[in-house]
Amino acid sequence: MLIKSLIAPSILSADFTRLGQQIQACQQAGADWIHVDVIDGHFAPNLTMGPFIVKACRQVTDLPIDVHLMIEKPERLLEAFASAGASHLTVHVETCPHLYRTLQNIRELGCKAGVVLNPGTPPSLLDEVLHLVDLVLVMSVNPGFSGQAFIPQVLPKVRYLRQRLDEINPNAWLEIDGGMNTQTLPLALQAGARVFVAANAIFNHPDGIAAGIKELRDCMPA
Ligand code: DX5
Ligand code: ZN
Repeated sequence: MLIKSLIAPSILSADFTRLGQQIQACQQAGADWIHVDVIDGHFAPNLTMGPFIVKACRQVTDLPIDVHLMIEKPERLLEAFASAGASHLTVHVETCPHLYRTLQNIRELGCKAGVVLNPGTPPSLLDEVLHLVDLVLVMSVNPGFSGQAFIPQVLPKVRYLRQRLDEINPNAWLEIDGGMNTQTLPLALQAGARVFVAANAIFNHPDGIAAGIKELRDCMPA
């Protein structure tokens, strides 16, 4: 079964002086989710958005809001992000000593539960929780900034996770984040990813947001 492929624009590269319009432009151009990168300057470099930005996003779109938590001790802020309107809460395995409990908590808050791996983290770390997740996210850049180059060495990890999820939890989404463009997306798709996060390729496309989304969409099967 081929699961529909989804596009999740990351607002990390949006023009924040007109964030609402840019999110609406994404929705009109057929984006599936809105990806929000929360970075605390400790777990990863850069300092970005908190729950109030998620709340603002929630007011301008009805698309799922996919919140990627690049923060230490994410369990402290799950409730705040859920109340702000997050649809998915994705935590880094590197930040979660009690991953099982954290994923259960996310579901109890009414959100989809996701787990994410840095490029240097092996996928076998997730073997014990794959039945419990709604989403697995593979980082294909080091977390922190948009506009970085895709790391092709993560592709075997995507293939491994596709195979494991097909066996254990075929309805879970397999998402990839970092350096997605018309050259790299087909490689990730071929490896088994089905949700594609992109910031630079969409918000900095020379012909605008709709053109950026269309170019990525054209790389996917109809
Ligand atoms: C990086 C973030 C990504 C980033 C992707 O820490 O998790 O979501 O915004 O940016 P691009 O698509 O430009 O690599
Ligand atoms: Zn992200």
